[in-house]
Amino acid sequence: DIVYLNGRYLPANEAQVSVFDRGFLFADSVYEVIPYYQGVGFRLQQHLDRLAYSLRAIRIAADDDWRSILDGLVERNGGGNLSVYLQISRGSAGSRTHAYDQSMTPTVFACCSPIKDIYALGADQVKGYTVIVSADLRWHRCDIKSTGLLPNILVLQQAREAGADEALLVRDGLLSEGTSCNLFVVRQGVIYTPKRSSEILGGTTRELILELAAEAGIPFQEVDIRPEELANADEVWVSSSTRGVIPVIEIDGTPVADGQKGPLWQQMFALFTRFQH
Ligand code: PDD
Repeated sequence: DIVYLNGRYLPANEAQVSVFDRGFLFADSVYEVIPYYQGVGFRLQQHLDRLAYSLRAIRIAADDDWRSILDGLVERNGGGNLSVYLQISRGSAGSRTHAYDQSMTPTVFACCSPIKDIYALGADQVKGYTVIVSADLRWHRCDIKSTGLLPNILVLQQAREAGADEALLVRDGLLSEGTSCNLFVVRQGVIYTPKRSSEILGGTTRELILELAAEAGIPFQEVDIRPEELANADEVWVSSSTRGVIPVIEIDGTPVADGQKGPLWQQMFALFTRFQH
């Protein structure tokens, strides 16, 4: 396993970061997860645009040729299908102090791990998700891809211990997203998804789904969705880079419609597969 740390490629077990790194002490850091299929980054530019947005939002002045850093990492790990993780923290001041000095040198870390090419699978090989609905305990800047993921992790763990795959989050009576995925609800042929705001992450896969829907003439609306509306949904989906678009077949023990993967999901999955290959 070769990783990237502060300008160098090296074996993972040789990579070292200070215990005073603010990423470690305060989660003062942002990240991206980018799938590479057959050695090529999926929606790479969109991920890098979002990274620049996150960095700007928390005022880390890191600017590098991320594309060549990540491409180089993938190449050194044999190419193929990999999930690439890139994290940039504010760096280390050599002690623990809340306030930071704007001149600090950021810590840049990247690593990758094998994934399967979901788009090489048939729709019948995709397993529908069971989910729970839970409270969204996060802060109000969920548009920043921060490594401060404690609320996400605790709720996901609650879901897993209840035998579910994911959790859908509710804040102030509205659904926001999943713990690491965006949310879509289908009713009478229309796709509904929460609108972009500081309450959700602007997912690259979410954006692609809306682009593909627009091209295919499938109507969609970015709107507030209340959890009560899940009971009348024809289909529910979640989306993320490494998982693509996944049908949700059961929510809190109740099947979504007939509990099968829906026809509009089948169509969207086919559009995805065509886009990727
Ligand atoms: N998560 N919402 C949240 C809270 C997320 O963490 C993610 C991605 C998404 C989907 O974004 P995209 O389609 O760009 O992957 C939505 C990544 C994969 C992760 O934390 O591993």
